[in-house]
This record gives sequence, C-alpha cells and structure tokens, in this order.
Amino acid sequence: MYTSKITGLGSYVPENVVTNDDLSKVMDTNDAWIQERTGIKERRHIKKGDGNTTSVMGVKAAKIALERAALVPKDIDMIIFATLSPDMYFPGGGVQVQEALGMRTVPALDVRNQCSGFVYALSVADQFIKTGMYRHVLVIGSENHSGGLDFTTRGRGVSVIFGDGAGAAVVSRNETGNDGILSTHLHSEGKHKDELSLQGPSTQYWVPEIIEKNPQEDIPYYPYMNGTFVFKHAVVRFSEVIKEGLEANKLSVSDIDMLIPHQANLRISQYIQEKFKLPNDKVFNNIQKYGNTTAASIPIALTEAWELGKIKKGDLVVLAAFGSGFTWGSAIIRW
Ligand code: UT7
Repeated sequence: MYTSKITGLGSYVPENVVTNDDLSKVMDTNDAWIQERTGIKERRHIKKGDGNTTSVMGVKAAKIALERAALVPKDIDMIIFATLSPDMYFPGGGVQVQEALGMRTVPALDVRNQCSGFVYALSVADQFIKTGMYRHVLVIGSENHSGGLDFTTRGRGVSVIFGDGAGAAVVSRNETGNDGILSTHLHSEGKHKDELSLQGPSTQYWVPEIIEKNPQEDIPYYPYMNGTFVFKHAVVRFSEVIKEGLEANKLSVSDIDMLIPHQANLRISQYIQEKFKLPNDKVFNNIQKYGNTTAASIPIALTEAWELGKIKKGDLVVLAAFGSGFTWGSAIIRW
C-alpha cells in the first residue's frame, strides 16, 4: 500500500477587504463586539464585477498549488471540490475546475461537509492514493459566502463571521518515505443538522416557493446558526478528534509542531491551544484577516503557514475541523 503527501499548496482571496467598521455601516454591530467574540478584524468579499465565483477562486488557488507541485493540469487524476457555496445548485464545482484547467476527463467529486469539507476531501484523496488507484489528486476548498449572507441587523450573528476565499492542495503518491498523511479521522452527528444550516433553496423550499411566494420571512434563504450551541460542541469535538488522531499514531500533544484548526472563531482556537498547553508558535490562526471561510479555511491557513516558513520538513502537522452537520475530522501529517 502507498502513502500520500501534500506536494503543492495554493490559496486565493478576493482583493476587496471588508473591515468590521464597514459592516457597522450596514448593520447594528461594532468592531469591539466582533473582535472580542471572534477575533476577526476583517474579511474578504467578492466584489460585483471582479470575476470571482466559488469555482473561479478555486481554480486560482489550484493553479498556484499545481505550479508548486511542479505539475500541469493533465497530470491530475482526480479533482475533489469542497464547498457549501457552489456557483450552481448542480453540477458542482469539480467539473468547472476540470473545464477551466483543461484537464483530462478525470473524476470530479464534490464534497458537502461545510467547515469539515477540506479534511473530508483530503481523507478521500488519501484513500484513493493509498490503494494505488490515483497518483495525483487535486483537493480544493472554496467559498463565496458574501453572495448569500443577510447583511441586515437580523443576520449579524452569522454575517460578520464569514468570508470568501479558496485554498488548494495537490496530494500525491509518496514515493520516498514514511512522511506524508499518517491518518485521517472523520465523524458526523446528524441530530444537530439544524443548528447550523441553510434550508432553502432546496427541495423543501423549491422553485415555486421562491418565485411565487418570495416570502417576506426569507429566513430559510439565509444561513441559520445557533452560535453558542455550535461553540460548545466545537470545543469538545476539536479536542476529541485531535487526540484520536494522535493516539492512532502513538503520538502525544507534545509531538505537535503545528496545529492548524479550522478558522471558526479565534476563541475556539485559543481554547484548544490552552487545553493542550501549546505555545503560540505551534498553533496557526489567520481568521483575523479572512474571517471564517469554512471549507477554504484550512487550506488557506496551511498555505499561509507554509509560505511563512512555519512548517518545515519532518514537522508533525495536525489539521482539525468542526462544523455544520455536525461533522468534524482531523488529519495527522508528517511534513
Ligand atoms: O465554522 C463553523 C462552526 N461555527 C462556529 O464554530 C461558530 C461558533 N459560535 C461562535 O463563534 C459564537 O457563538 C458567535 C461569535 C457566533 C456568537 O458569539 P456569542 O458570544 O455566542 O454571542 P451570542 O450569540 O450569545 O450573542 C450575544 C449578544 C446578543 O445580544 P443580547 O441578546 O445579549 O442582547 C446578540 O444579539 O450579542 C448580540 N450580537 C451582536 N452584537 C453586535 C450577535 N451578533 C452581534 C454582532 N454585533 N455581530
């Protein structure tokens, strides 16, 4: 059996910076509340006319990852595209990447696991490579949140948190040694599906309802989040799934060189850091600049940490995510 490793990373965020003060001009919120509760200072939003969509941003991130992996699109054997904000209801973003990059008619799989989407996608890539079926898998997480958020005061508990952007990783057959993805660990608990959800448009609130009723109470068309409930579950599941991954590899918290948590809320990351007694240089956060970009947050953070030289060969890198579903997961990587 083979192992897999990340051979190229890339990210892309739109140029348009939206500060907390910008948001306070359109809704009843303020910089102090947002920073105190979430750590977020600013995020990026697609600007009308800038050409960006979820798939377009994914392609931009993928091009960088491919170049760094010293590969061309025709080398890729499979695309896995994770998002909760696709350009179209169907088909998914994977086929758009296949077309935009002029790839062979390789499989394009779309992953729907929200904040855990990248870890789920990475895990799928790892399995296909381990079995020997594929040599190079392109994994993308990309989100266009700004296109679907409620920017009135009613939506402030959700809308100040999320941002747009994309990250990508090329996952390749490991030819050289025992480094690479050591293991991945995935979970779900559907009984909490409503606690962080977007219920329409969907087959429950299907086309006639959108067109004919255009309901004034258009809440189903915006994301709903029971923030406190999600927060409480997040801190427990993050801790559990990191420990599960370490134990599976007979490693302990002291072996971690870099923890990259899904950027849900700086307070969640800090809670985990304190619980595991990890020093500042072993936990990477950039939610301050980008907000929560769900499926894109880990690949954006991983790319930035790598670009800053914070991840070196031989390091033990731990990725962990939790989000809507609820779903959660971790990946334990020897860089
Ligand atoms: O990535 C997927 C997973 N998602 C998460 O992990 C998110 C987890 N949850 C959270 O990050 C936090 O729960 C939030 C940041 C979303 C909210 O923080 P909180 O400390 O749980 O605040 P809250 O929802 O309990 O609201 C506290 C108060 C409320 O006012 P009252 O009822 O106390 O008068 C809210 O109406 O803050 C108010 N509020 C705001 N005020 C200013 C809510 N949103 C805002 C806002 N600006 N943007």
